[in-house]
Amino acid sequence: MKVLIGSTPEDVAALAADSVLEGFERYVDNRPPVIGLATGSSPLGLYGQLAELVKAGKLDFSQATGFALDEYVGLPATHEQSYRQTLIREVCQVLGLPEENLHVPLGAADKLRTLETAAGHYDEAIAAAGGVDVQILGIGSNGHIGFNEPGTSLRSRTHLTRLTARTRNDNARFFGSPDQVPTHSVTQGLGTMLEARRLVLVATGRVKAEAIAAAIEGPLAASCPASVLQLHQDAVLVVDEAAATNLQHREYYDASAQALTF
Ligand code: F6R
Repeated sequence: MKVLIGSTPEDVAALAADSVLEGFERYVDNRPPVIGLATGSSPLGLYGQLAELVKAGKLDFSQATGFALDEYVGLPATHEQSYRQTLIREVCQVLGLPEENLHVPLGAADKLRTLETAAGHYDEAIAAAGGVDVQILGIGSNGHIGFNEPGTSLRSRTHLTRLTARTRNDNARFFGSPDQVPTHSVTQGLGTMLEARRLVLVATGRVKAEAIAAAIEGPLAASCPASVLQLHQDAVLVVDEAAATNLQHREYYDASAQALTF
């Protein structure tokens, strides 16, 4: 696990974009990349920086495939707060990733069984695309990644899940009130995410400090789903000073971020 600490949210976005680029350079050879996409506020600066790399000719998403982390249950796919529409606005239109190459878990169906079956097929679609090269992640104030709320199995696959009251409160800003936030979602599982070749998690603000400390330095435990990143072979966590507030091993992270010279 690599921990990078930026002074400001802008530094975080730039460091995270470098980590995404490095991931594609490391894992993608003469084929279009496969990117895993988070929604929410955290990755917006990163998507802006990736757009600059596209303009500079360092990245090309024109033939890329994208897999969303999650989708609300019960919102029509055309709803402006559905994660499909959010990713079309914030990623496809910004990075030039074709809408037809964007995969999002099915969140709207008449029958529960249809959602559960589609969730099972989502992992198969990721595998059929060759797996995710770089997965972008945010983290909830309760330590969730995707919508894997505290208590979720560390080996879970894409599944239907209930959102906690805290998450619905946190996301009320997109809907007007917590009551309007859907109660359920379909999310990639923690086991699904662990299969991505590189994970790049972005977190800013004091509100994320407890979750970041638990994810990086706490015990590996379902009570902090993001702690599962401790098991990943190539996870990069990029945080600002405020989100780094509770980290105990700061000296080690700062020293490790320096280039190795002999
Ligand atoms: C979104 C997602 C969530 C968010 C998390 C943080 O697709 O999977 O895990 O990353 O809730 O949200 P923000 O960035 O809005 O604080």
